[in-house]
Amino acid sequence: MDKLLIRGGRSLHGAIDISGAKNAALPEMCATLLTDEPVKLTNVPRLRDVATMRRLLENMGMTIETHGERGGMSFHALDPIHPEAPYELVKTMRASVLALGPLLARCGRARVSLPGGCAIGARPVEQHIKGLQAMGAIIDVEQGYMVARLPEGQSRLRGARITTDMITVTGTENFLMAASLAEGTTVLENAAQEPEITDLADMLIRMGARIQGHGTRRIVIEGVERLHGCEHAVVADRIECGTFLCAVAATGGDVVLRHGRRDHLDAVIDKLRDAGVDITEVPEGLRVHSSGPAWQHLKAQSFRTTEYPGFPTDMQAQFMALDAVSQGSSMVTETIFENRFMHVSELARLGANIQIDGKNAMVEGVGKLSGATVMATDLRASAGLVIAGLVAEGQTTIDRIYHLDRGYDQMEVKLRALGADIERVSE
Ligand code: EPZ
Repeated sequence: MDKLLIRGGRSLHGAIDISGAKNAALPEMCATLLTDEPVKLTNVPRLRDVATMRRLLENMGMTIETHGERGGMSFHALDPIHPEAPYELVKTMRASVLALGPLLARCGRARVSLPGGCAIGARPVEQHIKGLQAMGAIIDVEQGYMVARLPEGQSRLRGARITTDMITVTGTENFLMAASLAEGTTVLENAAQEPEITDLADMLIRMGARIQGHGTRRIVIEGVERLHGCEHAVVADRIECGTFLCAVAATGGDVVLRHGRRDHLDAVIDKLRDAGVDITEVPEGLRVHSSGPAWQHLKAQSFRTTEYPGFPTDMQAQFMALDAVSQGSSMVTETIFENRFMHVSELARLGANIQIDGKNAMVEGVGKLSGATVMATDLRASAGLVIAGLVAEGQTTIDRIYHLDRGYDQMEVKLRALGADIERVSE
């Protein structure tokens, strides 16, 4: 199993590319099920989750090829499609639930394993089921699988008005894809607004879908009979970009993040600026400058995670690591997932001072962290540990970095290009 060795205390300098977004690439790969024509995606990140999604789709009978240039992948879902997502794959990646909507819309039936529990929370999918049932699907849960089909005599899903009990990102994406081929008009009330949703909608529109309101809380989709092939570039990863902004803030330095988008990261950038970090838009993307290690001059910032455009929960661990080495105290409130403080006890092993009280974590900034062996528990927690390791004196060893590889495209290679002393070792 791979691990990362980090010797902290170096500032970061230079320029790197921000890769395509995991949370856009995964639903967009599923959207290729909606047509029997070839679809080409570019700027697809090289991630473990993308490899898992590829296996899931090939398992259904899809032909997928990679093209070296620009992270290109081509998809061709010719009939017959085997509409099944098996437990063996779904248990390794919850985003497999994103196959449910497209399979129902394309094949009129689907058998998709329930994802089961997750390190950061229970994460049930009853809203996905509820929304697709509103579109006329019959969905039963049998032996751990969602078994979905259309009623006798009905060949397509039908348009519906869907209001979910809470804002759900992948739920909104499932409904968007299913409604694109449904009979009639679907209205999504209380829809998620994340940039990945907008990017998926842009791709579907390129395929011939009729969608309005994406990027707002109310999306209207007029179903069409058929969708066709297209070429689409996956949007840049705002969470990877935010992670690097926090890394430079923590260590000090001057870095250009090519393809980074300020308009996708306002909530995070506002907090970093309040802390004392200098972030500017440049033609290639974003430039972040911080005159020295955080404990020397940055003010810790309290924040509360919420749905986009609020502060993203996927940036909570990384920003908490920054607060842990900034001046003063701060309160971090996690409102989206009930168990997303697993990194706190690992940060404490490096000398951080953080007290948890339910949804809140009280962070007392410390002037120094010292290297130790820590364990990654989930994707974003591991990114928070990398940031702490870049600041800590001595060597930090991070175990179980398969979590990190799920969502970061060669993070240690990019950090080394910026001057970090970091290496991956395989055992
Ligand atoms: C997406 O997960 C992202 N994953 C997550 O990123 C991200 O943390 C999350 O949205 C919130 O922004 C992908 O896009 C692949 P939700 P998703 O449905 O769609 C509850 C990362 O690190 N809920 O918006 O699964 C749920 O439990 C990952 O890249 C129900 O109760 O999240 C949570 O508390 C981690 N029932 C809340 O809603 C449902 O049917 C929001 O979840 C659906 C959701």
